[in-house]
Amino acid sequence: MTTQLPVSGVPPRLEGGVPFFAHYLEYRRDPLAFWLRAGRTAPVTQIQFGPAQRFWLITDPEIAEHLLLKAVKDHPRDRRIMALNSRGGPEVMFSTDRWEEWRWRRRLIQPAFHRQHIARFADTIVAHARRVAAEMADAAEVDVEAQTRRLTIRIILETMFSVTDDTAVGRLHANFESGSEFTFRRAAAPVALPLWFPSRSNRTAEVETRERIDVLRSIVESRVGAGPQGDFLDVLITARLDDEEGGHTLSTEQLVHEMSGIVFAGHETTAATLTWLLYLLSTHPEAEALLRTEIADMLGDRPIAFDDLESLPYLDHCVQETLRLYPPVYVTVREADSAGEVAGYRIPKGTRFVVNIRGLHRDPTAWGDPDTFRPERFAEPGANRHRFQYLPFLGGPKKCLGDTFAMMEIRLAAATLLQHLSFSYIGGEPARERPTFTMAVDGGMPMRVTRR
Ligand code: HEM
Repeated sequence: MTTQLPVSGVPPRLEGGVPFFAHYLEYRRDPLAFWLRAGRTAPVTQIQFGPAQRFWLITDPEIAEHLLLKAVKDHPRDRRIMALNSRGGPEVMFSTDRWEEWRWRRRLIQPAFHRQHIARFADTIVAHARRVAAEMADAAEVDVEAQTRRLTIRIILETMFSVTDDTAVGRLHANFESGSEFTFRRAAAPVALPLWFPSRSNRTAEVETRERIDVLRSIVESRVGAGPQGDFLDVLITARLDDEEGGHTLSTEQLVHEMSGIVFAGHETTAATLTWLLYLLSTHPEAEALLRTEIADMLGDRPIAFDDLESLPYLDHCVQETLRLYPPVYVTVREADSAGEVAGYRIPKGTRFVVNIRGLHRDPTAWGDPDTFRPERFAEPGANRHRFQYLPFLGGPKKCLGDTFAMMEIRLAAATLLQHLSFSYIGGEPARERPTFTMAVDGGMPMRVTRR
């Protein structure tokens, strides 16, 4: 958005709102419509949920760049939400508010996600996609969202820890899903009981967290000193970083919590992308036909391999356009640790920011026809757009650690599903988003799935 910014001062308060709840009731009615309306009102606007939760909503790529890159050290992830994420466990890369603590963890873990490490998982991903394709073939009606979630949890648990047993996968899956729902419900609530209060939902969440951590701990403990299995855990168990402050390794407890965070970050997000991609293709037959032709010309009937990905540009553009319209992480929250200034605004210490990722992706001043699925836009080189206008994986040093893995997984899985199956959306009304921590579908994604 290119609205003229004031020379100095405070952003305008978003109009609307009611006593006590302020903007919360409008947000609760339709969170995504709220973020979009607020973002289209002004590039920076002040919003409030209940008496205590005040934010600056940022729908301006330059300010996003300031928070996420230029002044990233002074803007950790929001502490209130991170406390919910870690819930009494040790600090992990995702939740720590201290720059140095984040940095050594990221540098220690990052090599496991390098291209040469992850390429070897391609066959595992394709095998899982083929299995799920066989499971959903010829069903009169399938909830494609549930199926893609099953697919991506299987992929992440096998590639992370070599967990393949269906019962163990099912139990962990249910546990991760309810943990994610609990944290999301609390994150935006205008008032919430403290986590120590023995309410039913607090107690359930505590028991489930303990169960999850116990299962992951037993997996990690059984692996220490047991020899490599060919998964991420191999690399992380032996990872060591030597820097100016000395040597760093991850203790078993740290490793367990880091792995739990990575599984959280790395399965609902990829499932949401696959679900929305299949929906968009089913409702845009021309794009689907182009993509099917590209895949058939390149692969015929043989399974896709890692090296094929660079020869499937339209597949890449379809995924990027899906991530633009339905970014699984559609907002992120930051906190100012010191007073500062950006784009003419004075930032008081303690200011909380919501970066409006979906708002940036649908900003009509930056994208022609912003609500339309048009994969070709990603083929236009040098489209004159600020690099922080498109942030599905965020930007700056704290951007998604698994972005390369995610893009590989989504493209391999999508190509495989499309080779085996046809999908037709049978939901009557256009599918509606249901914002949780990721962009879910309201009521699931009903499709008729037929074998090809
Ligand atoms: C389409 C799929 C994905 C999307 C859209 C996505 C998006 C993001 C975003 C926006 C963030 C920053 C969150 C914030 O700061 O609020 C993030 C962080 C992260 N993501 Fe992803 N992600 C995806 C898949 C994955 C996968 C597959 C993995 C791992 C296998 C992963 C691991 C992580 C980790 C570990 C972080 C924290 C990085 C740090 O603290 O430095 N993500 N992701």
